[in-house]
Amino acid sequence: MRAFLLLVLMPSLLSTAAAAEELIGDAVAGAKLAEQDCTACHVVAADQTRQPVGDAPSFFEAAADPAATALGLRAFLQTSHPTMPNLKLTPEETDDIIAYIMTLK
Ligand code: HEC
Repeated sequence: MRAFLLLVLMPSLLSTAAAAEELIGDAVAGAKLAEQDCTACHVVAADQTRQPVGDAPSFFEAAADPAATALGLRAFLQTSHPTMPNLKLTPEETDDIIAYIMTLK
């Protein structure tokens, strides 16, 4: 019985470990941060009331992009973009926001 349970649980344990390795941030903190810092230009949540200005993609669109891996998002958030203000996120904030965006996939 114990061996059987182990066999059943193994794949989920492994995939949790793999996900945890890539997503070290706190998605709840990331959601709060996105709400504060990103809603001027992005729709970041389904229940967002603030109407963003400009034509920045929503975080749902960003998440749906196959290129939006944790690595790709990190690269984007750590380089400057002419159309986006330099965000000055700390490494921890970057991890949190990435974890949040990945929950929207
Ligand atoms: C002043 C407006 C503005 C603010 C504030 C802003 N962004 Fe953006 N963002 C943009 C624009 C415009 C684009 C699209 C242009 C581009 O891809 O270079 C963009 C693109 C992105 C993309 C890439 C989306 C994709 O599908 O390519 C990500 C990820 C992103 N922003 C994250 C953030 C996060 C996280 C915050 C808050 C910490 C934030 N942005 C705040 C304007 C903004």
